[in-house]
This record gives sequence, structure tokens and C-alpha cells, in this order.
Amino acid sequence: MDQTDNSIGKNYAYEIKGGVPLKGNIDISGSKNAALGVIAASIMVDGACTLENVPDILDVHVMLDLLKTLGATVDKIDNHTFRINPTTINTYKASGPLVSRIRASYYLMGALLGRCGKASIRLPGGCNFGTRPIDLHLKAFQLMGATGANPSDINSGTVNLEANPLHGARIYLDIVSVGATINAMLAACKAQGVTEIINAAKEPHIVDVANFLNSMGARIKGAGTDIIKITGVPVLPGNFTYSIIPDQIEAGTYMIAAAVTDGDVTIHNLIPTHMEPLSAKMREMGYTIEEGDESIRVYRENVEQELYPATVKTSPYPGFPTDLQPQTVVLLCSANGQSRMHENVWQNRFQYVPELAKMGANIDVYERIALVNGKTSFRGATVEATDLRAGAAMVCAALEASGTTYIMNAQRIDRGYEHIVQKLTDLGANIRRVNDVPEYGEEDTEA
Ligand code: UD1
Repeated sequence: MDQTDNSIGKNYAYEIKGGVPLKGNIDISGSKNAALGVIAASIMVDGACTLENVPDILDVHVMLDLLKTLGATVDKIDNHTFRINPTTINTYKASGPLVSRIRASYYLMGALLGRCGKASIRLPGGCNFGTRPIDLHLKAFQLMGATGANPSDINSGTVNLEANPLHGARIYLDIVSVGATINAMLAACKAQGVTEIINAAKEPHIVDVANFLNSMGARIKGAGTDIIKITGVPVLPGNFTYSIIPDQIEAGTYMIAAAVTDGDVTIHNLIPTHMEPLSAKMREMGYTIEEGDESIRVYRENVEQELYPATVKTSPYPGFPTDLQPQTVVLLCSANGQSRMHENVWQNRFQYVPELAKMGANIDVYERIALVNGKTSFRGATVEATDLRAGAAMVCAALEASGTTYIMNAQRIDRGYEHIVQKLTDLGANIRRVNDVPEYGEEDTEA
């Protein structure tokens, strides 16, 4: 993760004293992945726009800073509201170090092509869980008439694209890709004619980016289905206020944190249908999931009853989200018996398992399948947040564990979780951020 790490400033750790059942109410923030797509899309607008419910997290700050390096005017109205005026953009080049701090900087390819007709972008960063190609993004641009979109054109890690001009195209994605779907949609908004994206990804944040663009004057139909049809427009007038959807993955992480501590938590400001893949598995295991209009309560009616093991397979939406896979593996550790986790999206997303083993987990990994042998009673240890969601999984394990856990490189967790220390503290957890931690690798003797 080193070369793609998004650590801004100092590295730090989280100290968690576990064993406290979480109780109370919590509010979910705006979606990280939707915000990143919408902020990138905002540079295509021909006026200003105001974004609300923007999560106050590191990745979002990097994206907003990236916009400023392009010349856009970004005004902070409050911690969650920003006014973006892209008409001051004066370059189509994004080549500084910020680009490689986050994965979503790849959206600047489609957005700059749409705005400037040219894009010169350094290859993106993000969490390191296997090869993360962008061939499908490039294929889409090529079909729309861009030059420089041949993988062999990538020169010293920079993609140089030029619209010649961009025109509508029929784009079939042979792998369902969130990033390629959004990038193609962005570029197509201002292309001449009609674009069809076939076998498109259907994630909630794709719908959110499409809704944002439509509110700015784009003509996108079918987002959220596997065929998206975009009729290009010459101008996106903008001058609109848009509110980002709640974060599905943050909500799922808190559902799991509540469950593993045998707590009773009501999670507000979420969309229950987005949580269905997780809610269904949690019910299967023996948890009670009560849905309100915009909330979910998680608890267990009989904590003496053993939890059932489960088989979980990650897949594109509406399947089980890969970004909840590590946290769910922690949950499966609580079950009485062997569970299975199939990782069908990423090649190498079980890198965190040796860290969980330090806390007592008994997990055997066979390529893309993890056999989770429950029931584990986690114990405190010093572990490393190997990436954003793996770090979140370690937070869940640490909240359940006996003794004290130190999670090193916790700034990786802050890439995607707004005010996690405060939110968990409000639920009764004993968590704090520390800069001085026991020597890395040393086991906690309190456990
Ligand atoms: C996005 C999310 C990430 C999540 C992932 C899957 C953002 C910023 N990140 O990442 O958190 O884990 O969706 O839900 O929204 N692929 C190719 N060629 C390509 C593009 C993708 O082969 O050109 C493959 C990837 O290797 C992977 C699969 O397609 O196996 C899905 O990747 P994709 O949906 O594109 O993930 P991201 O958009 O990078």
C-alpha cells in the first residue's frame, strides 16, 4: 500500500479497549464513493454548483484539493457543504502527487475530456488489493473517439487523452466495473450523440452521480440498471444544489460493529434497501435487523443462542459489497462453526487475515475463498490497518476483543470514515487516537 497510501501528515494509531456492547443511535455520513464521483463530475458543469452532505474524510479533501490544482474555485460553506465553480479551470493536466493518493482521481479522465476535450492524468492510487487495471475505462474513451486511449500510449505512468471530438458509442463492458461505468458516463454527457453503456455497474453511487449530472442538465437514463443511455448535451448549465446519498459501507460497518459487540444500535440516515445483502446475511446468522424508513436497528433477542455460520459471496450491486468483505469476515468469526467468504471482485483482498490472526482469528485462505472457523474470542494485539476496509474490520474485532488493541496506520481508516472515534465513543466504545504506541509488532500483554 506504500506507494498508493493516502496518509496526509503523520501516521497514527487507534487504541481500543474492547468488550463494551455498543448502544445508542448513530448518524451515517455522505457516501465516500458517491462524493468522489460527484465532485469529479462537478468540473464538467458550465456554472457553479453546491454540494451538501459531503463526508468530512481524507479522500474527499484530496479530491477537492485536486480540483483546486486544476484552477477550480472551491468554497467551503461548512464542514459538509462546498460550492464548486469550475469555470476558472485553466488546465487539463492532473499530474501532481495528489492524483496517486486516491483511486477516484481516475474520474478526472472522463470529466476533463468532457470539459476541456483533453486530459493528461497520472495513474491513480487507492487501496492495494491486487491488480487494478483501467483498460475498460480506456476502451470506453477509445470507442467514443478519444486518441491516446490505447494502453500502449501510457507514457511514464501518464494517460494523455484527446477528444477527436468525442462522439456517442455503444460500449459493452465485459467486466462489471464501477469506475469504467462512471467514467464512460461522464465523458458521454458532453459527447456528440447517444452513448449506450451495456453491462453497466449498478451501485448506488452510480445512480447518485447520474442524478447529480441530470440535475445539472445532463440527459442520462437507466442508471441503476445494466444499460445506461446518455444523450450528449453541449452545455451543463449547473447552478444547482445537490445532496450526496448516505454511505452504504459506513452504515454496514456500524451494523457489524454493533453486532460483534452484542450491542443494540439504531443507525440513522441510511437507505435500508442498500443494506439488504448484509441485513439478509445477518438475519441468517441470528441477528435481529429492524428496518425503519431511513434507519436500521441491530441487536440480538437472545444473546445465549449460538450464531449460525454463513456463506457469503461478494459481487457487484445488488450483490454483497466487496467493501464490506473484511468487516463481514470479523462478523463470521463470531459464528459457531465454519463460514465461507468468497471474494469474487478483487484478486487479493484477504491480505489482512494474518493481522486478524494476531487477535485470535482462525481463518484459512485458499486463493479467493476464506474459510472462517468460529467461534473466535478476539484478544487485544498490535495490528496494522493494511487498507481502509481492512482497518475497519480490525476496529470491529478490537471492539469485541478482550484487552487493548492498537491499530497502526489508522489514518488509512480515516480515508473513508468520518469522525469514527467520536461516533464510536458516542455508542459507548473506548477508543482514542494515539501517536505514541507500543513498539510495532509487540503483542499486548493485557490481553
Ligand atoms: C470501486 C470502489 C471500490 C470498490 C469497487 C468494487 C470507488 C472509488 N472505489 O472501485 O471501493 O471495491 O468499486 O465495488 O468507487 N476491472 C478491470 N478493468 C478495468 C476496471 C476494472 O478488469 O478497467 C476489474 C477490476 O480489476 C476488478 C473489477 O473489475 O476486479 C471491479 O472493479 P471496479 O468496479 O472498476 O472497481 P473500482 O471502480 O476501481
